[in-house]
Amino acid sequence: MRIIETVAELQAQSLAWRLAREQVGFVPTMGALHAGHISLVTAARAANRRVIASVFVNPTQFNDAADLDSYPRDFDGDARMLRDAGVDAVFHPGVAEMYPAGGPATRVVPGAAATGFEGADRPGHFEGVATVVARLFNAALPDRAYFGQKDAQQLAVIRALTRDLGFPIEIVGCPTVREADGLAMSSRNGRLDVAQREHALALVRALGTAQREFAAGARDPLAFGRNLEAALAGAPAVKLDYAGIVNPETFAVPAIVGPGDLAVVAAQVGAVRLIDNAAIGATDLIKYAAIESPRLVLLTQPAPPQGVMTWNA
Ligand code: PAF
Repeated sequence: MRIIETVAELQAQSLAWRLAREQVGFVPTMGALHAGHISLVTAARAANRRVIASVFVNPTQFNDAADLDSYPRDFDGDARMLRDAGVDAVFHPGVAEMYPAGGPATRVVPGAAATGFEGADRPGHFEGVATVVARLFNAALPDRAYFGQKDAQQLAVIRALTRDLGFPIEIVGCPTVREADGLAMSSRNGRLDVAQREHALALVRALGTAQREFAAGARDPLAFGRNLEAALAGAPAVKLDYAGIVNPETFAVPAIVGPGDLAVVAAQVGAVRLIDNAAIGATDLIKYAAIESPRLVLLTQPAPPQGVMTWNA
């Protein structure tokens, strides 16, 4: 596995592969790798002759300096995992290589999919993501790029930027990988203590309850939002940031909840901010649902979409 630190070398390597008619898959990461990242590499391996991964903790997508400072870093461990997973080249640039002007002098401002939920809670976050992803795409020049569905709004923003800026890259969304008890894998989970790790299960329980409510006939996005909020508000040591139902492409709230929509939640557990989501119409998380549902609301008429999101409750 090659370790490459400059954009010029990565472009030359990727072009050489593509000129040899070898398709290139790309897995961008910020390191602190876990089985979720490796599932992206496995998907990339299955569809491409060559796989590039990047490890770059992008400062411009952190709107909180303490979060950036405490973000876990272990490049040697990451490189071992990537080598074992069959990656051909890992791109590990410094900040000056990615931002030669000292910062992103030219920025990519994402559209409407970036405004609510994570976008509202973390101002500037998606602009930082969109800018670095555009830069990474131009460095890795891949045929396909792989992103986890756990970061569902990021995936929506990247699909939109790829379409709007005309990158000739197929964006592949890969399923969230979960621990045996349902907790979505995240580089941040390692910062939870034993009690917080238990409290964090409230997120997947709330999402499982939303899937169960849809299966029972609930369709009102307002009611789903309230029930998700109630499920998380009642959980010890969990501070809700937002909960609601969205369309996965636009991140707009639907007038009436249907299959393919997403239930999304974000909460602070101690000092750790966690996000998760579940596909409505799927049943994979019902086994984790809270034993008792909050009030179940059945609705047959479309409901108005206003006010579904709950902010910093
Ligand atoms: O999902 C991540 O790890 C990051 O947001 C990404 C896409 C690598 C951009 O820094």
